[in-house]
Amino acid sequence: MKCICDLVLFLNNHQRSDFFHRTAPYYDTLLHLLTFGGYGRFLRQAIRILAPQRGEKILDLCSGTGRVASWISGEVGEEGEVVGMDITESMIDLARKRYGVLPNVTFLKHDVTRPWDDQGHFDKIFMSFALHELPGKHRAGVLERSYSALRHGGRMVVADFHPQPSGMAKIFSLIFFKMFERRNLDFFSFPQNEALREAGFRKVKILKVLGGIFQITLAHKLKIIS
Ligand SMILES: C[S@@+](CC[C@H](N)C(=O)[O-])C[C@H]1O[C@@H](n2cnc3c(N)ncnc32)[C@H](O)[C@@H]1O
Repeated sequence: MKCICDLVLFLNNHQRSDFFHRTAPYYDTLLHLLTFGGYGRFLRQAIRILAPQRGEKILDLCSGTGRVASWISGEVGEEGEVVGMDITESMIDLARKRYGVLPNVTFLKHDVTRPWDDQGHFDKIFMSFALHELPGKHRAGVLERSYSALRHGGRMVVADFHPQPSGMAKIFSLIFFKMFERRNLDFFSFPQNEALREAGFRKVKILKVLGGIFQITLAHKLKIIS
């Protein structure tokens, strides 16, 4: 009980970046325990929807400990390429230490709200539990940059909280955010689908998970038909 209270106080009195910096080595284990193993299962489900193929170039935005990038690296094989991008130095250091031996994975320290110049380079982009972490004014911009970083025919998967939950899911999400993520409460007024469409994405499909608390969104950058 004391641990939970300490965690609530810590999360609401410190910057989120400080939280990620300090928890990097324990992040995966902490989330695994808090969700009774559900976190990893959810990520794997989202990766299946991304459907990485051999030889593809894949960007993992806000890659955290690098775990997802390492899983995807096996799918794309040595002829493929996985880039993990994260702002938190200790997350990048940890990811390089754990998965730096993988020949097809690179981790870059970069703030995804700032431009990155990889126009049309990636086949697929993955982003898990990060869109809600970004300042509200930057969320749409990150989706726009993702769109231009994708090749035509590419796809993006966003796995995160449902931004417009209803019923019990809404009650759970609001309690959770008020306890642990008060600074990100504006995520529940973020019109994610409209932002994806305005960025250029089409064929947006949504899979609700755990009664609509979470969702996996698949969005496409259409092929050019000449
Ligand atoms: C909740 S964690 C999710 C990590 C990983 N995607 C996962 O699902 O395990 C959010 C991550 O987003 C990163 N992050 C937050 N703001 C960022 C930004 N502006 N640019 C890049 N990374 C950012 C944090 O450092 C942290 O590693």
